[in-house]
Order: sequence, then structure tokens, then C-alpha cells
Amino acid sequence: MREVAVVTGGARGIGRGCAHALAERGHDLVLVDLLVAEMERTRGELESMGARVLTFEADVADHARAKEIAAAVEREWGRCDALVNNAGKSNPRTILDCTEEEFDRTIAINLKSCFNYIQAFVPLMRKGGGGRIVSMSSLNAHTGGVTSAVSKFAYASAKAGILGMTRALAKELGPEIAVNAVCPGVIETEIGNVLTRSRGAELAKKIALQRVGKPQDVARTVAFLATDQSSFITGQHIIVDGFQWEI
Ligand SMILES: NC(=O)c1ccc[n+]([C@@H]2O[C@H](COP(=O)([O-])OP(=O)(O)OC[C@H]3O[C@@H](n4cnc5c(N)ncnc54)[C@H](O)[C@@H]3O)[C@@H](O)[C@H]2O)c1
Repeated sequence: MREVAVVTGGARGIGRGCAHALAERGHDLVLVDLLVAEMERTRGELESMGARVLTFEADVADHARAKEIAAAVEREWGRCDALVNNAGKSNPRTILDCTEEEFDRTIAINLKSCFNYIQAFVPLMRKGGGGRIVSMSSLNAHTGGVTSAVSKFAYASAKAGILGMTRALAKELGPEIAVNAVCPGVIETEIGNVLTRSRGAELAKKIALQRVGKPQDVARTVAFLATDQSSFITGQHIIVDGFQWEI
């Protein structure tokens, strides 16, 4: 029986890379995203790699929708071995510019989404004897942002919250379920594009590996944490940034 992995924000970018990496390792995929056309394109790619794919149009901030999706996955395939909480969105507002709605929305998309999908899928993982959860944090959780002009404080708050949630849930859900996080640095995707286009060459000079990251760089780490390759690792985060020493 093939293992099943759920990837939120799986339509494009790092999430699409994670779905590819897990399909390569023999998983069937459940994609959850707002972008239907991109998600269908990714579905085609994954099916051509031999994976079965279910797609769900959903806003990850919607708690009830996560439960509906978990129920549908249980009905269709009856198992969930890995959950990748990847969907997220940056918010460049400063503390004095950020409205209450914008703050709440940033926390909802980046942090509450993890609560939504972990709560929804843990029962199904437990039915199958366990599983692995990987949530997408960010280097921002550690640094507060790439420049002081763009602090992204709401985004950094949410991404740092993921690290606390990861440690607490590793204790709560062990030994059956492992819970880890990944903290990408600057990665070339839609979110990262503004930065890589305007400052890519300059940033690369401050990265030990002398380049910005690609979705596959993050996806390989996620696949490691989402499979039994990482059999004795839980409650941790891995920074995938090529070692950006000056930011
Ligand atoms: N690209 C980077 O430099 C970088 C760095 C650190 C962390 N990250 C994190 O990696 C993750 C993926 O980012 P990316 O660079 O691939 O971005 P992206 O914008 O290319 O992809 C994000 C995906 O998530 C989906 N998504 C966003 N909000 C959603 C919502 N409310 N409901 C459902 N789907 C939603 C988008 O539609 C998209 O398919 C995010 O959590 C992001 O914060 C990215």
C-alpha cells in the first residue's frame, strides 16, 4: 500500500517541490490550495510520475474545511502518513501600518493553518499507527527579516509560533507521530521572487553557498523529515538557507 502525504499550498513553489519529492519517494499526494489551475497542473505532473492525487480547493485558515478534507481523505484512501503544513504568505507591514485584520490574517494563514490541519489529520494518522508532520517556518522566525526596513513582524511572529507548536506537539503526539519544522532562507519562488530579483546577486555574496535556494533544496529536507529516513528526529527545526551569515 502506497503512503499518503498531504501538502498544503502544494500548487506551486516550495509546496509543489515537496509534492514532487514525495511522489519520487512513492507517496500518493493530497494537495490543498486556493489556486485551482496551478494545482491541476501540479496534479498532472505528479500523476505522470505514477502518483495518485486528490486536490482540494481550500483556504488553509478555514478550520472547518480542514476537517472536511481529512474526512474526504479518510473516505477515499483511509490513511495519512505525512502532513506538510507548507501554505503561507508574507506580510510586509510595519507595526504602525499593520491593521488588526492584516495581523489576524497573517497569523491565520501561517500559524492557525498548522493547528487546523494537524488537529484534522492526527486522528487519521493515529488510525494508521502514526505519521510525520512537517511545518514550514522561516529563517525570519530567527532573524526577524532580511532588512530592518521590512521587518515582516507579523509573519515572523507566526513563523516563530510554528517552532513553539512543533516542540510542544512533538511531546504531545509522540511516540506515534513525529513533528518537525523547516526554516528556509531566501528561496526562488513567487514569495521569494521580489527579493531574489531585486537583491539576489547581493544576497548571494552573504550566503556561504553563494546562491539563493531553489524549491528542491527545501523539498529534499521536507521529504527527509516526512519519511522514515528521519526515524529518531522530532521536535526539531532545520534551517535551509545555505548559511546566510549577514542579513
Ligand atoms: N520563498 C521563500 O523565500 C520562503 C522563505 C521562508 C519561508 N517560506 C515559506 O515557504 C512556504 C511556501 O512558500 P513559497 O515561497 O513556495 O510561496 P508561493 O507563494 O510560491 O506558494 C505558496 C502556496 O501556498 C498557497 N497558499 C497561500 N495562502 C493560502 C491559503 N490561505 N490557503 C491555501 N493555500 C494558500 C498559494 O496559493 C501557493 O500555492 C510558505 O509557508 C512561506 O512562508 C518561503
